[in-house]
Amino acid sequence: MALTADFLVIGGGIAGLSFALRAAEQGEVLVLTKRARQEGSTYHAQGGIASVLGPDDSFEHHVEDTLLAGAGLCRREAVEVTVREGPERVRELVSLGAEFNRRPSGEFDLTREGGHSRRRIVHAGDITGREVERALLAACDERPHLAFHPESTAIDLLLDRKAPRGQGRCLGAYALLASGKIETLFAKVTVLATGGAGKVYLYTSNPDVATGDGVAMAYRAGAQVANMEFYQFHPTCLYHPEAKSFLISEALRGEGGRLRLKSGERFMSRYHPMAELAPRDVVARAIDAELKRTGDEWVLLDMTHLGRAFVTERFPNIYAQCKAFGIDIASQPIPVVPAAHYQCGGVVTDLDGRTSVPGLYAVGEAACTGLHGANRLASNSLLEGLVFGQRAAKACASDARGARREAEEPPEWDPGAAVESDESVLVTHNWDEIRRLMWNYVGIVRTGKRLMRARRRLDLLREEIREYYWRFKVTRDVVELRNIADVAHLIVECATRRKESRGLHYTLDYPNRDDHNWGRDTVISREP
Ligand code: FAD
Ligand code: SIN
Repeated sequence: MALTADFLVIGGGIAGLSFALRAAEQGEVLVLTKRARQEGSTYHAQGGIASVLGPDDSFEHHVEDTLLAGAGLCRREAVEVTVREGPERVRELVSLGAEFNRRPSGEFDLTREGGHSRRRIVHAGDITGREVERALLAACDERPHLAFHPESTAIDLLLDRKAPRGQGRCLGAYALLASGKIETLFAKVTVLATGGAGKVYLYTSNPDVATGDGVAMAYRAGAQVANMEFYQFHPTCLYHPEAKSFLISEALRGEGGRLRLKSGERFMSRYHPMAELAPRDVVARAIDAELKRTGDEWVLLDMTHLGRAFVTERFPNIYAQCKAFGIDIASQPIPVVPAAHYQCGGVVTDLDGRTSVPGLYAVGEAACTGLHGANRLASNSLLEGLVFGQRAAKACASDARGARREAEEPPEWDPGAAVESDESVLVTHNWDEIRRLMWNYVGIVRTGKRLMRARRRLDLLREEIREYYWRFKVTRDVVELRNIADVAHLIVECATRRKESRGLHYTLDYPNRDDHNWGRDTVISREP
């Protein structure tokens, strides 16, 4: 039996919940989350939310910093709306109950991160995302027209096939629900809020849910996707054999942390006048270059000069997590390496989250709004989720009014001749292979040759996965594998097309920026 809602929201992070809260004032909302309700990048965010709240700051400064980081590809209107609407959205979060650190005067305690010319980052200790997610979920629980389906995985979007080719409206999605059944979910408006795709790389700061499902589903449905070559690598993830994806926040460098080689030598001033506070791509590339030059496996982030009291009070969670791995960050430098962190590209949207497919919206990390251009400024993504979640909810009210909630002839999920798999090894093997090849061939520094190698292997892997997908019964692992394969393909395609280096895309074959030929987005779509 099909389920129906006015608004189907796929994803329960900051973007999906910001949308859902507003949309629930206009109709029935159903939020799908792949694992527990709170699990996603939002929950793990550490540093904070960038917004103009300090006395020495201005919208112009924040806009300029964002444009500079974006290396010529930001869409100015997207930057302007995000920056200008940001402070109000942050205050709304506070009114929903989110508690951020304050100074004794009552003002927000603003911190600083790479690429920011001012202190403008509101934070809840070093667990900002956890506090944001807590407050948003609590507010959602107060809304009568809002229901959650946790442990439920959207598989593919449902399109109106009766419309002329390429104009079919999105009617909802197929999803594998917690019950183990695949259901057809119909909605007037469908919103992709599925977050990023860090799991496409071997090393990532992202949680397990980050498999790029929204981008992959939208691409398969014929939506425009852009700028997937701009994958941001965070410079500092903990290097420890037992630590899985633990981020060491940029705020540590913002508060004076120093990067050193194993020998103790500092190196960042050789790469950028802002040294440790240079934009993220510069710091990640500098670490990558030093690791290649020295043959070491990690560099060190040193907080020891800042004093035990400050370090433990300001970064209690990072202190405790590192301590659990035997590192006392107040007296020992932290071994760190870069890791895949943030997808700057995504499903192309307008300033209200509309994609190129009617009835389909995208918000948050899954979307490409134009805010980030070729490189995201630290702590601008939680802000984007807040601003665009709300903008999309306002905008889609009229869209929803004209739409049907149920298709006339509901196309139920057809399992065909699929049987239980007796070859799950294909899933684990291909999962590892894709993530490793992306890390080795499509990482921080690229070449045309490496991209070609990646493309050849991916073509074979995608073919194998496609065959497996249709032969065997669908599981969450298979859905995710198919999606990381499609997202890997999109990253390689976009990276291959861009014959220059800019922002997060750096290739040894074209080491310079070429505004004349490449001062534009890399847009890609396929026939639905
Ligand atoms: P997410 O919060 O990732 O939520 C995605 C949701 O989609 C989840 O609920 C997931 O279950 C669901 N989902 C995915 N696929 C499916 C599917 N197929 N079916 C059903 N549900 C699905 N940014 C900042 O601005 N400041 C920071 O301090 C900061 N720190 C960070 C620290 C870490 C460790 C990480 C990983 C990221 C950090 N970022 C930070 C980036 C930021 O957290 C994310 O960009 C942002 O939270 C993304 O929000 P979102 O709502 O788009 O997606
Ligand atoms: C961090 O705390 O370093 C992450 C900030 C971000 O990704 O915006």
